[in-house]
Amino acid sequence: MPLPVPVLPEGVDPAWLPPAAFRAIGGRRTLIRGSAPLVETVHGEVVQACRRFGGRVVRGAPDGGAYDLALALGAEGPEPLGEEGFTCAREGGTTTVTASGGRGLLYGLFHVVRLGDDAFRGERAREVHRPALALRMLDHWDNVAVHPVMGQVERGYAGGSLFWRDGSARGELDRVRAYGRLLAACGINAVSVNNVNVHAAEARLLTDRIGEVADIAAALRPYGIRTHLSVSFAAPVTLGGLPTADPLDGAVRDWWAGATRRVYEAIPDFGGYVVKADSEGQPGPFAYGRSHAEGANLLAAALEPFGGTVHWRAFVYDHRQDWRDRTTDRARAAYDHFVPLDGEFAEQAVLQVKHGPMDFQVREPVSPLIGAMPRTRLAVELQATQEYTGQQRHVCWLGPMWSGVLRFRHEHDQSVGELARGGLVAVSNAGGDPFWTGHPLAQANLYTFGRLAWQPDAEPRAVLDEWIKLSFPAAPPQLADGLHAVLDGSWRTYEKYTAPLGVGFMVQPGHHYGPSVDGYEYSPWGTYHFADRDGIGVDRSVATGTGYAGQYPKPWAELYESPDTCPDELLLFFHHVPYGHVLKSGKTVIQHIYDTHFEGVEEVEEARSVWASLAGLVDPARHARVAERYEEQLRGAREWRDQVNSYFFRKSGVPDGRGRRIC
Ligand code: GCU
Repeated sequence: MPLPVPVLPEGVDPAWLPPAAFRAIGGRRTLIRGSAPLVETVHGEVVQACRRFGGRVVRGAPDGGAYDLALALGAEGPEPLGEEGFTCAREGGTTTVTASGGRGLLYGLFHVVRLGDDAFRGERAREVHRPALALRMLDHWDNVAVHPVMGQVERGYAGGSLFWRDGSARGELDRVRAYGRLLAACGINAVSVNNVNVHAAEARLLTDRIGEVADIAAALRPYGIRTHLSVSFAAPVTLGGLPTADPLDGAVRDWWAGATRRVYEAIPDFGGYVVKADSEGQPGPFAYGRSHAEGANLLAAALEPFGGTVHWRAFVYDHRQDWRDRTTDRARAAYDHFVPLDGEFAEQAVLQVKHGPMDFQVREPVSPLIGAMPRTRLAVELQATQEYTGQQRHVCWLGPMWSGVLRFRHEHDQSVGELARGGLVAVSNAGGDPFWTGHPLAQANLYTFGRLAWQPDAEPRAVLDEWIKLSFPAAPPQLADGLHAVLDGSWRTYEKYTAPLGVGFMVQPGHHYGPSVDGYEYSPWGTYHFADRDGIGVDRSVATGTGYAGQYPKPWAELYESPDTCPDELLLFFHHVPYGHVLKSGKTVIQHIYDTHFEGVEEVEEARSVWASLAGLVDPARHARVAERYEEQLRGAREWRDQVNSYFFRKSGVPDGRGRRIC
């Protein structure tokens, strides 16, 4: 029986799956062959498209007629397709998609949706499509109960949670199904449904509240998405009543084994656990004098009989640092903690590493840890939720940043995309907002993440083209050009008017929105810029600084070591330099700060007017929401410009070379 396509609740934006995206398929004749649960999902999609656009679908044996599209489960061809791969070819007037598993067929269907009418023109040589990474996951930092400081969703800028509200399951499972459908259409196959900071209510999702997770899992399953759960390392104590959570204690091991068995009774295809341990106050193995490998392996052993995985986060650092102590460097922490453990993690354990060494800043170098643990399965974590990149009030398309990270080559010439054998993960930017992501244009980040997780070396601009074509079917060239104009360079624009040259932060403490140059300067969080009257930046060289640059292999260690060779955009991340230091661009650091801050605001003004010119080409509600956000972005960008420029003018006493007014 075809599975009906989830009904989008009234007023919710269809994002990149508007009905018109299915026009090419819906107006044609399709044959579907094979049986597996996800084939029913594929069938349901085609049935709905045909109902809308007048086409026809036949299931099972061909009825003698000719077909424009054949979607078939079949035997493997010369190369293994796996559960998720598919082939696509066109010959003799029929486009044929074959897969060996239901998920593959579903991805094949969405491939045809992306191609649109092109899928049905001429001949197409047989192409094989397989995801480069087996795990393509979103972590929701959603709380079940509203947290007194962080609210319903930690760092959430898209309304409430899709899953939880005020301590209970939200229960709007149609919305969850529709979410799963959007995720599948861009290639995502796993979702973790609660915050990595596991508070009291959330901890119980593992035990007596597992039924609520099972409901979500059931809603996501038809679109090939497995459900994961963040758990607390202290659960044996807080939930199990044991005196210890020591990973080497037999009773603790038994407790995790039993709890995990019950999870799989409720959710047979459960994906596994996500753990934030010994990090920002979360419990972990250090309390028992055990290593993080011992901690992770405890959970890996519990999951192993069921094929689950523990995603153990490497975000471990001292968040109670003394700002007077210049020898401790937060950037070093993950590498220092984890590299000695390489080879000690069990097969079912994946070490999940943030892409940069600090915390999702607008510009960071790639984490040196990613290339330094060849005997460990690593997953790379990105942040789609725009905690430090405009909080979904500012346009900031992160495709170019993520692509740069994924293409970065560590030692032995392996790129980050190749080293991420444990998968690519992003902190989700989606929530209960009718546009899913607060800022409608932030949908492009979610879509781009999924496509880059499928193919890390994909060209981000081509991915953006896909997103435009799907989200705005039949967009006139003016609209597509306008969208590119406002999105393509938006990350660099954001960088221009915020913290300069890789130095990071300068945000208001706590909520992290808006400028405060010294907001974290005298705090325990390890996030400093060290600006004084003479200069700015953090000396992370081996020769005179914290030694962080030495965590990289060659050529990076050498390149970053000296201000002469360090790339401009990371200069202040690696070096403390005088304001008069001349960049490779030929400008001094201080003039660069002034110029980029003026330019950043001008670019936002320009983008705002481009967007205004698109009124009439975009549906009015979407247009109005973006226009409203541009007002706030412009206000925010001016605030950033003026605070940063004034701060450095006052510190340095150096006037703007172009004589502009700085207070
Ligand atoms: C950042 C963020 C926190 C989050 C943490 C993490 O520090 O501000 O809200 O909990 O990252 O990744 O665990």
